[in-house]
Amino acid sequence: MSENTQSPRKPRVAVVFGGRSSEHAISVVTAGAVLSAIDRDKYDVLPIGITTDGRWALTADAPERMAITDRKLPDVSDLAESGRGGVVLPVDPSSREAVLTEPGQVPEALGEVDVVFPVLHGPYGEDGTLQGLLELSGIPYVGAGVLASAVGQDKEYMKRVFVSFGLPVGPYEVIRPREWEQNPAAARKKIVEFAAEHGWPLFVKPARGGSSMGITKVDDLSGLDEAVEEARRHDPKILVESLLRGREIECGVLEFEDGPRASVPAEIPPVTDHDFYDFEAKYIDSASGIVPAPIGDEATAEVQRLAVAAYEAVSCEGLVRADFFLTEDGDFVINEINTMPGFTPISMYPRMWQESGVSYPELVDRLVQAALTRSTGLR
Ligand SMILES: Nc1ncnc2c1ncn2[C@@H]1O[C@H](COP(=O)(O)OP(=O)(O)O)[C@@H](O)[C@H]1O
Ligand SMILES: [Mg+2]
Repeated sequence: MSENTQSPRKPRVAVVFGGRSSEHAISVVTAGAVLSAIDRDKYDVLPIGITTDGRWALTADAPERMAITDRKLPDVSDLAESGRGGVVLPVDPSSREAVLTEPGQVPEALGEVDVVFPVLHGPYGEDGTLQGLLELSGIPYVGAGVLASAVGQDKEYMKRVFVSFGLPVGPYEVIRPREWEQNPAAARKKIVEFAAEHGWPLFVKPARGGSSMGITKVDDLSGLDEAVEEARRHDPKILVESLLRGREIECGVLEFEDGPRASVPAEIPPVTDHDFYDFEAKYIDSASGIVPAPIGDEATAEVQRLAVAAYEAVSCEGLVRADFFLTEDGDFVINEINTMPGFTPISMYPRMWQESGVSYPELVDRLVQAALTRSTGLR
């Protein structure tokens, strides 16, 4: 008797990771942890790595090769099964069959995909583009849909949505691509006027960045042009913000059967050997947040309320990590949300849930289950 007649086929989870964004390596690390944690008795797994140039490759199911070792970051091109063509998911919603294609070869069926876990950060992964592809395919997926992903990726529109829902945001200014390209003097003047009103230092950021890449803290006018150019290397649209003094507090939101719930919050202690919570501090040195954040019951309840409000404001699904500043006046200001937050077992989001009674494997399972119960399309 074949296995299929004994029990129904297990749901097949395609873990999609890597990708074209500057957060490629972090995504690989996360995918390694997800592959290790996912319940193989319950799910079949298909690992699909996206190379930095956007090729979808069938990769080895080898979590042990996906960690940061000796400060060396992992890369999909080192994991891809060489010479095996590209993986394609059908855009035709009548089929869920993933195929391996190679020019001149008969396509090789890889089996049906029931749900995609896009373990991708940043552009072409966390920003709604991949989610759009999966909507066309009719394959459900973990996490936020097209709109929420796109809003969560764009620091300008994210703030605009927050403001419209009454969530507190800090002062900011947007410099659009054409403003800087066509009249840099006017754009510079706009920033200087912003600084005159709100004071130096400023944070100059790419609008659609992540992992602190391209962000510079600028103390005075002399560092401005360089900071703008650096941000623009990541995104032609940039944001300028005033420095928010206070404590950095994060809070996780996870979808349960009865709706979204907030985790205990965490505090990111001020970094001493880095200028701010930058890429190195976040990933290489594993700057460790304090969980739960020692802010008292009242502030905890407030940040949890705001985190769920942010999730709802943007119409998130599955999960979100909402990041705040707790100002010296005791008020919360929301900095950003991440619709696919850092997700290794030592990352803040899983640690906050661990501390809230949801283990890493359970977290992975809840997200996959939540996705499996959703359909694509309007919902
Ligand atoms: N306006 C600000 N005031 C003070 N610190 C900031 C401000 N904006 C960003 N930072 C610091 O920079 C880090 C990264 O900025 P963030 O906006 O979260 O970008 P990313 O999407 O790259 O994580 C934050 O965690 C915080 O430490
Ligand atoms: Mg951040």
